[in-house]
Amino acid sequence: MNWFTKTFSSTVGRKIVMSITGLFLCSFLVVHLIGNLQLFNEDGGAAFNIYSRFMGTNPIIRTMEIVLLLGFLFHIYDAIVLTKKNKTARPVDYAVNRPQENSTWSSRNMGLLGTVILVFLIIHLWNFFVPARFGGLEGVVIDNVHYENLYLKVVQSFQIWWYVALYVISMIALAYHLIHGFQSAFQTLGLDHKKYTPFIQAFGYAFSVIVCLGFAVIPLYFFFFR
Ligand code: HEM
Repeated sequence: MNWFTKTFSSTVGRKIVMSITGLFLCSFLVVHLIGNLQLFNEDGGAAFNIYSRFMGTNPIIRTMEIVLLLGFLFHIYDAIVLTKKNKTARPVDYAVNRPQENSTWSSRNMGLLGTVILVFLIIHLWNFFVPARFGGLEGVVIDNVHYENLYLKVVQSFQIWWYVALYVISMIALAYHLIHGFQSAFQTLGLDHKKYTPFIQAFGYAFSVIVCLGFAVIPLYFFFFR
């Protein structure tokens, strides 16, 4: 095994990979949310459909999609390996173990929260990304140009109550996952300091709540007001 493989398959190496990919996925969430805010334009979906065409055809964005996929895969794979390693290293809990007092609920349930997010992601991609990239959407003409009507797909999807419920529940899980993950990533990368840690924690908390609230409002808006 060369030094590279050795470093990144060690526990510390895997934690570093999880932190970097986690923070990268956070930056994706910001871009994705800002793009999705165009759904609120009162233009029958024109801006959103034009934006989606750009995202689906721009070569830089398409390349970033592959980086994004790799980010997800490494993050999930290392999470599974580290969880297994922890279980094997300590199959029986410490005799004196008060997890409720010594750690937060989200830090003890990152695997469960991650699984909820993964299930959400599979359903989400199947519903939006697959038809957007591989066909199956109705067409619409905007300024004499033909577009795929992804906006209509969003409107139709968020008329279904259980679909809206899935999004809202998943965004609660995502918020808890991010609240712990954000500050944990900084700690793993050695970017914590007595002076700055409270700020990083507060920023991570605000980031998680604002981003997840932003995503959750979209299905609720379409269900109740459109
Ligand atoms: C209400 C919330 C959301 C809406 C309306 C929404 C909408 C969409 C749409 C329409 C697409 C297809 C875009 C295209 O291919 O042109 C997409 C793709 C995607 N979404 Fe979401 N999304 C939401 C929340 C999320 C969340 C919370 C995550 C991650 C946890 C996520 C992850 C992704 C990924 C990874 C893709 C594929 C990559 C891409 O096309 O950029 N989405 N989303």
